[in-house]
Amino acid sequence: MADDLDLIPAPLTVEQPGSAPGRFTLDERTTLDADAGTESTARWLRATLGAATGLPFAAGAGPHAVRLRISEEVAREHGPEGYRLSTDGSPDGSAADAAVVIEGGGPAGVFWGAQTLRQLLGPDAYRKAPVTAGEWSLPRVTVRDAPRFGWRGLLLDVSRHFLPKDDVLRQLDLLAAHKLNVFHFHLTDDQGWRIEIKRHPKLTEVGAWRSRTKWGHRASPLWTEAPHGGFYTQDDIREIVAHAAERHITVVPEIDLPGHAQAAIAAYPELGNTDVVDTAALTVWDTWGVNPNVLAPTEAVLRFYEGVFEEVLGLFPAATSPFVHVGGDECPKDQWKASPTAQARIKELGLADEDGLQSWFIRHFDRWLAARGRRLIGWDEILEGGLAEGAAVSSWRGYAGGITAAEAGHDVVMCPEQQVYLDHRQAPGDDEPMPIGYVRTLEDVYRFEPVPPGLSAEAAAHILGTQANVWTEVMENRARVDYQVFPRLAAFAEVAWSALPAPDDRDYAGFERRMDTHYRRLDALGVDYRPPAGPHPWQRRPGVVGRPLEGTPPIV
Ligand code: ACM
Repeated sequence: MADDLDLIPAPLTVEQPGSAPGRFTLDERTTLDADAGTESTARWLRATLGAATGLPFAAGAGPHAVRLRISEEVAREHGPEGYRLSTDGSPDGSAADAAVVIEGGGPAGVFWGAQTLRQLLGPDAYRKAPVTAGEWSLPRVTVRDAPRFGWRGLLLDVSRHFLPKDDVLRQLDLLAAHKLNVFHFHLTDDQGWRIEIKRHPKLTEVGAWRSRTKWGHRASPLWTEAPHGGFYTQDDIREIVAHAAERHITVVPEIDLPGHAQAAIAAYPELGNTDVVDTAALTVWDTWGVNPNVLAPTEAVLRFYEGVFEEVLGLFPAATSPFVHVGGDECPKDQWKASPTAQARIKELGLADEDGLQSWFIRHFDRWLAARGRRLIGWDEILEGGLAEGAAVSSWRGYAGGITAAEAGHDVVMCPEQQVYLDHRQAPGDDEPMPIGYVRTLEDVYRFEPVPPGLSAEAAAHILGTQANVWTEVMENRARVDYQVFPRLAAFAEVAWSALPAPDDRDYAGFERRMDTHYRRLDALGVDYRPPAGPHPWQRRPGVVGRPLEGTPPIV
């Protein structure tokens, strides 16, 4: 590919005409000629490039137009997310019937093509207002492109630390700029319930805030002695979902059960195992780790969560949220072992043990969601005790869960913690803020391979794609999230989108060269990324305990 265009993620092919390379400019004459089906991209171009350039992009066809269209030929060749972008309109606009043509296999393809157009215009195209009276010039190229995977995601944990709505909308903009198309929205956990549920108002009245917060890893002696919390109203959620849909991003809401539920139990103590713990004394958890306070395996709890999911399905429409995540991870069984109610339930349901109760929960919601036209997805622990039919798996504890699930015919999203947990530190030095987990550098992420080696072709077809996960225990605000996510999300986006060779054969030096330009795009966007030379002084958190893990464990 043509290195000087510095496109990230790298497209399939770029052709630059040998005879008349040249550049031409977008200016006051530039119009927007949008065919049916491309309206969202037209709106995005006007709002985003209009703000950055100060150009009006009036509607209309003609030699100065940016033409947006859906093409069956592109669909056949590159699928609905593929596109062809051609900027070889004549420099003076005299001979061509459009200056720029973006043809997508479908509406999403047109949108991804528009993202490439923005990259071609240079870093200032990422600002919110013009900073120079300079030209908006484009190289004359034809780009052909299509994603490797249909699921290119980011999980954002807004429970451990709440991120205000505007920060979530901005995160969606950043995903779109990297051609990522799935936003896994981790809305509930022990440390906070973040989505308004009208029929259970205490979930947010009580469950959305805590009086203090552990500062650093759970072994740290430090606390932030200030209330922390927040939640999204139902209209906030609708706005987030609509903002994502405009950007061809699917939202996967996650409501965690039967573990990671202390915030819900603090709000409604009857949800917990009241025969073994005084759940009325529980508060929203203020520290980190795997929590023993899990849901009671009762019919009343199922009904309560059905009510929650009814509202969730109303807020996340099937067209843009076909998958609903129910968590299913890290559910300690100690309370169920000690609880006469849970033990009676095991007998009554004819289950072998407590693992059976976990699958009983998951299977119930698998059937319940399927009956409403949705698909359940859960963490790979949902494989224990038998995977519900039709369920998909987020493989986080390595490749193994994903391999087992794919070989059994279940769809899989690869997000192994050893590779793409962006809460893990990105350099070995002492300067990394609150260092957690393994060292996973930009290069490590660039060399991540989502499809496990040795998987049969049939099983590999079940790998829907991949996502990076951002758990926010030690990210107290947007700047900390930016630091952990960037620049590694750029490498991840290329892994998820581009047709890269095997990990060892990837041209990391070439990627780093392209990153020189990409850092300038991120600067223009105001992203607080980790600079290649290490953190700025204000990005450090000296003296706060982390949990560095050494070495590279085998990926299993
Ligand atoms: C997870 O990291 N517990 C999914």
